[in-house]
Amino acid sequence: MVTRATPKPTPFQSPKQVQLQTPKLIPFQTPKLIPFHRPLIEEEDIQAVVEVLKEGWITSGPKVHEFELAFADSVGARNAVAVNSCTAGLHIALDAVGIRPADEVLVPTLTFTATAEVVAYFRAKPVLCDSEPGTFNLDPLKLESAITSRTRAVIPVHFGGQSCEMDTIAKIASTYNLTVVEDAAHAFPAKYKGRNVGTLSWLTAFSFYATKTITTGEGGMVTTDDDAVAQRMRVMSLHGMNHDAWKRYSGTGSWRYEVVAAGFKYNMTDIQAALGLAQLGKAERMRLRRKELAARYSRGLRDCVAYQTLEVVPDVEHAWHLFVILIDPEYFSINRDQLIDELKSLGVGTAVHFIPLHRHPYYRDKWGYRPEQFPVAEWYFERCISLPLYPGLSDEETDLIVEHLRALARKFKR
Ligand SMILES: Cc1ncc(COP(=O)(O)O)c(C=O)c1O
Repeated sequence: MVTRATPKPTPFQSPKQVQLQTPKLIPFQTPKLIPFHRPLIEEEDIQAVVEVLKEGWITSGPKVHEFELAFADSVGARNAVAVNSCTAGLHIALDAVGIRPADEVLVPTLTFTATAEVVAYFRAKPVLCDSEPGTFNLDPLKLESAITSRTRAVIPVHFGGQSCEMDTIAKIASTYNLTVVEDAAHAFPAKYKGRNVGTLSWLTAFSFYATKTITTGEGGMVTTDDDAVAQRMRVMSLHGMNHDAWKRYSGTGSWRYEVVAAGFKYNMTDIQAALGLAQLGKAERMRLRRKELAARYSRGLRDCVAYQTLEVVPDVEHAWHLFVILIDPEYFSINRDQLIDELKSLGVGTAVHFIPLHRHPYYRDKWGYRPEQFPVAEWYFERCISLPLYPGLSDEETDLIVEHLRALARKFKR
């Protein structure tokens, strides 16, 4: 081990002198860092978690039950099953559907891998579909043309928080006898034609991952009006144990349980649920703030031809999980990746949602997908940048990001 001797301060170095030696920072040397995301964790969130820690029951218990009831109530579904991620939720939802090896499930290529990987868990095939230009949600026409005799289900993703064209998707699904499992990882709270996302299809999975619209750090929820399916998902989310397994350590429960299936360890903890309840209480307030910020970005960039924003369709209530801009490659002398680096050097954190699945080695090599099959997703991917969008982002920070974007458009005009 290397030990270093701590230099002893010489007697004449008073604290005042030490302070004087510290170089002064000039404002322009410290660009304001604006992270891509900051969750809104307030005193009430912290207190809710501290209370659970003090209670002494920290894994799945009464708080999870309370969170499930409150979440079901807030979307207007009969049941909500809490799990430790949206991925887990999608997995137990597909299990409830009864997906089998060699089945096919339609998913957008423009999504996070979780949407499609859960299909592969069953040794079924994730059939990737292209997006529609404008909203970049799943294109119902491409969806229909990808249906074969093996197709069992479709997983629409409400991209960025804006609902897919669910009436059309539901109609196609019913024509071809497919089950719809919605991936609503981005879409809480959101509406489609006045109805809450979470009540539109048989099963809907939500995410409470750290960057999502409400968070439990990691976590998820599946909503359904079908009581039997909810019960099956509860059993599968906790080792296939048959009933209220968490109660077995409590005064009201029994030590006896039965394992009825090879289930998973997907349960949410009371610590997460306590945070989830606090977040749920302010979900609409946070959505309205994100909506305000999205409008601010749109106004600020409206007359700037270098950028385009995504289409917002009438009849939806957008969750505004993401605010995506599309750069015009004909306009810029640099590409999207270089623009991201420029923004980074100005202290603005951004992200890319998403690298289309067909571009990843797994989907390319295992399933043989090629870029030319997905022209819209390819067009989108060359251009997209997700900007910071969260309730704690100030008006000034938003304006500064707009200013930086406009300045970069002037600087790197072809
Ligand atoms: C569209 C989509 N689906 C599913 C997931 C998976 O969510 P989780 O991290 O809660 O499993 C994500 C996460 O980013 C996502 O963006």
